[in-house]
Amino acid sequence: MNANDLDTPAVTIALGVMEETIRRAQAYYDEHGIAFRPHIKTHKIPAIAHKQIAAGAVGITCQKMGEAEVFLAAGLKDILIPYNIVGAQKLERLCNLAKQGTITVSVDSEYTARGISEAANREGVEIGLEVECDTGMHRAGVQTPQEAADLARVIARLPGVAFRGWMTYPTTRETVAFFEVASRLIERDGLKAEIRSGGGTPGMWQAHEALPTVNEYRAGTYVYFDRNSVGADAATWDECAMLVHMTVVSRPTQDRAILDGGSKTLSSDGVGGGQKGYGRIVEYPDAVIYAQSEEHDHVDLSACPPDRRPDIGERVTVIPNHCCATTNLHDEVYGVRQGKVEVVWPVLARGKIR
Ligand SMILES: Cc1ncc(COP(=O)(O)O)c(C=O)c1O
Repeated sequence: MNANDLDTPAVTIALGVMEETIRRAQAYYDEHGIAFRPHIKTHKIPAIAHKQIAAGAVGITCQKMGEAEVFLAAGLKDILIPYNIVGAQKLERLCNLAKQGTITVSVDSEYTARGISEAANREGVEIGLEVECDTGMHRAGVQTPQEAADLARVIARLPGVAFRGWMTYPTTRETVAFFEVASRLIERDGLKAEIRSGGGTPGMWQAHEALPTVNEYRAGTYVYFDRNSVGADAATWDECAMLVHMTVVSRPTQDRAILDGGSKTLSSDGVGGGQKGYGRIVEYPDAVIYAQSEEHDHVDLSACPPDRRPDIGERVTVIPNHCCATTNLHDEVYGVRQGKVEVVWPVLARGKIR
C-alpha cells in the first residue's frame, strides 16, 4: 500500500530517515566512548529498540515500569528506569523484572532506596540504583552534591541494591561540577560512581563536552526528531521521521482550513525555538495550526500566497511539536520506505503510565 492511500489521520515513520539517525547517533557516541542508552518512551515499539541495540546501544531507558514490562517481554534485558519507584504494588513488579533482566532504577531519597532494598532483599534479587541529581531542571533529584554523596553511602550499606552512580536530566552546564563534587565526596568511603548518566535530545550532539565526567547518555526524541528538536538545532526538517497524515475536511473561509487531526491525534504540546502553533504542515510551511479541538486542527492560511492554499479533500503531512506525546495517542504507526508501507508496528507500550 502507498502511504498516501492510508486512511487519515495516520502516523508514518520514514524508515530510511530513522535508520540513518539511529546509525549516526550511535556513531557519534561510539566515536567519543560514551555509552548510549536510548529512551524508548518516544517510540514505545520493541522492534525499534532492537534496531537501536543492534546499532550498538548498551541497553534501553524506560520511564515507567509498564514500559519496562513490555520491552523486557520482547527480549530487551538491560533496562534503566530513571524514576522513583514508590509503593508496594510497583515494588513487587520491579522485583519481577529484576528476576528476568538487569534492572537499574534512579532514586532521590532514602525512603525510596529503602523501599527498593527491602523488596529486593525479600525477593532475593539485586537492583542497581543511581542517585538522581537535580542539576537545573528542578524536577526530581537531590539538590546538592553533598545530598547525593550521603544517599550513595546509605545505598552502599543496604542489602538487595547496588550503588551504580549518578543520573540527571537533562545534562546542563551545572552537571559536570555537580557530578565531580559528588564523586569526590564518596571517594574517601571507597565508593565509585561507575555510571554517570546524562540525557536529552536538544544537547545530544554536545554530549562529548561533558566528558569524561558524563559517561552515559540517554536520548529518546532523537529517533524520530520533531519540531522542538529542530527548534533546538538538534535536527533539520529532513531528519524528522514522524509525519502525521491528515485530510483537509473544511475550508470555512479564504484564510482558514480545518484538518481531521486535533489534540487527540497530534497532542497539544507546545513548541519552542521561536515557533508558533501545534505542528508544521510540510506542504504549507507558512500555514499555522493556531488552535485545536479534540478532532479538528484549525489552520490559519493568511501567510500563504492566495494561489497556494489547500483544497477540501487534499492530504497534508504534519511534523508534530513533540513526537513522544503523539506516539502515545496512536494504536499503530506505519513504517514507510519510498512511499510504500513496509511495516505496521503496534505501539505496544502505548498508555503504559503505571
Ligand atoms: C529521565 C529522562 N531521560 C532521558 C530523556 C530523553 O530526553 P529526550 O526525549 O529529549 O531525548 C527524558 C525525556 O523526558 C527523561 O525524562
